[in-house]
Amino acid sequence: MLASVDGAIGPAEEARIPVSDEGLLRGDGAFEVMRLYQGRPFAFEEHLARLARTCAGLRLELDLDTWREEIAALLECNGPAECLLRLVLTRGGRRIALIEPAPRHKPVARVATITYAPNRVLDGLKTLSYAGNMLATRIAKEGGYDEALLVTPHGRILEGPTWSFFWVRDGRLFTPPLSERILGSITRERILAETDVIEETCTLDDLRGAEEAFIASTTRTVQPIAAVDDLTLPAAPGPVTLKTRETMDQAIERELGVVA
Ligand SMILES: Cc1ncc(COP(=O)(O)O)c(C=O)c1O
Repeated sequence: MLASVDGAIGPAEEARIPVSDEGLLRGDGAFEVMRLYQGRPFAFEEHLARLARTCAGLRLELDLDTWREEIAALLECNGPAECLLRLVLTRGGRRIALIEPAPRHKPVARVATITYAPNRVLDGLKTLSYAGNMLATRIAKEGGYDEALLVTPHGRILEGPTWSFFWVRDGRLFTPPLSERILGSITRERILAETDVIEETCTLDDLRGAEEAFIASTTRTVQPIAAVDDLTLPAAPGPVTLKTRETMDQAIERELGVVA
């Protein structure tokens, strides 16, 4: 797998940044993850726009023109692979672009709720400070689940540590609103643009009446949820989940001309 650090391309395992970089020492920096289909990134401009928003929020200088050139050079070297592209901008000013293998996910996920309070000062920003998100996933896995579902101390469902949450009631699709201080997920935005979705807060009690639920993210597109804690959803995947996945596959095909 290849990496580019400030435009120098080489094997990822040989790429280096100074250990004094506060991106490493304090998790102070911005990142994005895109999916490459036959080597081409889906929703590239949306990801760069979110990176710009994160950098503005963090007061981190971003030279987008240089980034674009460096990314283009890396993608050219990488060729038509099915994989991920991670972009990281550190407080020390390092521009890291990293090719990663596409992760394998189970066909359906069982999720465990984990209590979580979003960090208000980082609202809407995709920063390197993800230890809490990673720990939530680890705790869920320790309990025998596949994923964590983050829930406020008052019992409102937010999102997963790296994904957005959707559920279906009476055949209609719902997702929590951004005012819940969840990330402005690119996949979520696309689903909202392409299908009828109601943005509504969701409690665990609300979920008891749900017919389906699913995970949405760049790396998985749409992944059905089979269970939330001890609650088994009636269908995984159900018809709305399948339809949404098909809609997203069509959006990818329309944009990139490849079959997702
Ligand atoms: C907290 C959080 N929510 C949602 C998502 C999904 O966002 P996207 O659709 O842009 O991949 C991510 C992605 O990593 C995330 O970190």
